[in-house]
Amino acid sequence: ADPLKVHAAARGKYFGDAVDNNEITDAQYRPLIASEFSQLTPGNAMKWDSTEPTQGQFSYTRGDEIVSLARANGQTVRGHTLVWHQQTPNWVQNLDATALRSALQNHITNVVNHYEGQLYAWDVVNEALNDDGTMRNSFWYAKLGSSYIADAFRAARAADPDVKLYINDYNTDGMGAKSNAMYTLVQSLLSQGVPIDGVGFQAHLAIQYGFPSQMQQNLQRFADLGLDVAITELDVRMQLPSDSTKLATQATYFKNVIDACLAVTRCVGITTWGYTDKYSWVPNTFPGEGAALLVDESFRQKPAYTAVHDALAGG
Ligand code: G3I
Repeated sequence: ADPLKVHAAARGKYFGDAVDNNEITDAQYRPLIASEFSQLTPGNAMKWDSTEPTQGQFSYTRGDEIVSLARANGQTVRGHTLVWHQQTPNWVQNLDATALRSALQNHITNVVNHYEGQLYAWDVVNEALNDDGTMRNSFWYAKLGSSYIADAFRAARAADPDVKLYINDYNTDGMGAKSNAMYTLVQSLLSQGVPIDGVGFQAHLAIQYGFPSQMQQNLQRFADLGLDVAITELDVRMQLPSDSTKLATQATYFKNVIDACLAVTRCVGITTWGYTDKYSWVPNTFPGEGAALLVDESFRQKPAYTAVHDALAGG
């Protein structure tokens, strides 16, 4: 069977993986990153706490390492992420509004300039919304109001005229209050002339919460605004231990996400948030849950792998 990236390319999409620096030296994993995927996202290496841990002191070693692996593999890179409320150093969070606004500008200018010409896309603003569709009351919003979003996109565009600029969030995959709010927010940004190219749908799913409603229709309505859409952080967790029933449900969820993206012309690709259950954020964040990815801890293909493969292959 051909690797996932080959089937995705035949359908006009990329198939990507999120990787961390400690993972890409894993001798068992490294060749699979190269063979299965056509796109990489650094899971942590380009976040603010990595790139500007101290004010004005930029550090690109970890991000560069992933970009150079991608280049060696002929893969594109999605930059992740410029403005978020997590993994942002205390020095940022402690600034007053005026200083925070200029730190935002300075951070984006430096980081986007550094990677200019090397990335396919940037997640400019990550997770700005609450699940009920109100604005998340992060330190960004509390100090700057919602204008930080437009400012961030404008700064990114000024630093790289060609990279695709995305807003990215979770629990926006199906129709609902949060995706409605994202739709309204994006419409408002477009009407103000804010340079935004795409909307990222993280798709951190869990079998115990059901599959998002009308995912294809939801992706399509954003595409109909003239934007690209992408599945940016796909995984499907479950309560442990896994069993054959749960793994079969998980496989169906993965297939449904692939099918939704394939059905939307402007859906440019799918990124899984890791490939092997050996490296996944889930057990640390949701104790007792896991097994969220396509291959197990020993890199054995799970039913979800076959489901993704067959969906991409048109089976
Ligand atoms: O780097 C430190 C290390 O020095 C320290 O010894 C260790 C001890 O805990 O922690 C290490 O940092 C961890 C970091 O990942 C790097 O491995 C953090 O504790 C841990 O919280 C962090 O988790 C990341 C998480 O974002 C943080 O919010 C996950 O790896 C990463 O996969 C996850 O990714 C997010 C996306 O960016 C946005 N969407 C949701 C997604 C899942 O939470």
